[in-house]
Amino acid sequence: MDPTPAPTTALRDSWIANAAAWTTAVRTQAIASRRLATDAAIVEAVLARRPSRALDVGCGEGWFARALSPHGIAVTGVDGSPPLIEAARAAGPGTFEVMTYDELARDGRRAGTGFDVAIANFALLSENDGRLLWSLRAALAPDGALIIQTVHPVSVGGPYREGWRTEDFRGFGDSTQPWAPMPWYFRTVGSWLALLRDAGYALADLSEPVHPETGAPLSLLMIAKLT
Ligand SMILES: C[S@@+](CC[C@H](N)C(=O)[O-])C[C@H]1O[C@@H](n2cnc3c(N)ncnc32)[C@H](O)[C@@H]1O
Repeated sequence: MDPTPAPTTALRDSWIANAAAWTTAVRTQAIASRRLATDAAIVEAVLARRPSRALDVGCGEGWFARALSPHGIAVTGVDGSPPLIEAARAAGPGTFEVMTYDELARDGRRAGTGFDVAIANFALLSENDGRLLWSLRAALAPDGALIIQTVHPVSVGGPYREGWRTEDFRGFGDSTQPWAPMPWYFRTVGSWLALLRDAGYALADLSEPVHPETGAPLSLLMIAKLT
């Protein structure tokens, strides 16, 4: 049986189509939630652990490597979108490799081993992320941590139950950018916790960055340790 459901393939492909628009959005700080809270939240969460080596899973155009490198952290970024990896390499620093989550799920050591942190910043968007997280255990140092930031489930409209949705990126502000729709898998807080537990992690910390003016929750930031 093909372990990759069709929406997961369409999701991965959308990041090839959206590479230029995404790179512009990130580099011009066009996404208010990132500019106002979530970028700083994940940088702080990682720096607090004082890692030497970090694996950025679904690294996109590589902004996180650029944020961590001045702190002496060696970052390896992997992503399934070749044009995003190209953009990351061109902007440097960091080591970047085209790699799908399927490939990483088949061999968790494929991007290296002994990482102090593995980070997924708004990069776990599929129903079958559990396979990836399970395999990533092999990439972490024994005392390593998995750090996930994801959209806060209560900030998303619609029924509060897990399932596939479609993002049209209309909320990203710049209607001049040509965005391809992205299938993504919505998880409740409970289903995020179950995902971690079933993939062999224990939640060590959970924070909820909020909009600095409205107080609305923007993201869930989870730090998990190997069990
Ligand atoms: C919302 S972007 C986040 C990028 C980056 N982490 C950031 O904070 O800017 C999601 C990223 O996940 C990657 N991604 C999604 N599904 C993937 C898959 N199945 N294999 C590899 N990469 C995938 C996309 O290519 C995209 O770069």
